[in-house]
Amino acid sequence: MPEIHRILCPVDFSSTSREAMRFAADLAQRFGASITLLHVYPVPGYVLPEGFLTAGPDVLAEVEERTHASLAEWEAEARKLGVADIEVATAMGNAASEIVRHAAEDKADMVVMGTHGRTGLAKLVLGSVADKVVRMAGCPVLTVPSRHHRHEPKPAA
Ligand SMILES: Nc1ncnc2c1ncn2[C@@H]1O[C@H](COP(=O)(O)OP(=O)(O)OP(=O)(O)O)[C@@H](O)[C@H]1O
Ligand SMILES: [Mg+2]
Repeated sequence: MPEIHRILCPVDFSSTSREAMRFAADLAQRFGASITLLHVYPVPGYVLPEGFLTAGPDVLAEVEERTHASLAEWEAEARKLGVADIEVATAMGNAASEIVRHAAEDKADMVVMGTHGRTGLAKLVLGSVADKVVRMAGCPVLTVPSRHHRHEPKPAA
């Protein structure tokens, strides 16, 4: 099995991505790997008939600041779970594309993310972001289901 040095853990702050983060923390400890917590937010703005109007620098700054504040809380939790080497990162744009780009640029050995997030339908196997990352990433992607989505196997008759 290849060495796992760097784990990219994209989070959308959903409970499923929190479970994925805890799983990533466990893996990081076992492998002595680092974790990067990445949150991608969409370009803030309005769709107008004549085109897309991007929010001004003050709104962008506030989005960035609040995202970093939330990431700092998640980082603290990962540290409590015993992971020493943690970075946080933000990106703006399409979530799946940015996650894949980050994984490549960061030379991540593995992506650990939730099967679902904040907005999707639980009946789908994967949310759309997880689905695209699994298809497009150049490294292994581990998708972690929420406890609520897990199907316990029926005991053998
Ligand atoms: N904006 C984001 N930034 C970072 N990671 C994300 C982002 N959105 C989703 N993820 C990651 O992808 C996982 C799966 O979320 P996904 O968005 O695919 O499912 P969903 O929200 O249930 O469905 P959909 O977005 O298709 O409505 C999350 O648990 C999280 O790990
Ligand atoms: Mg989503």
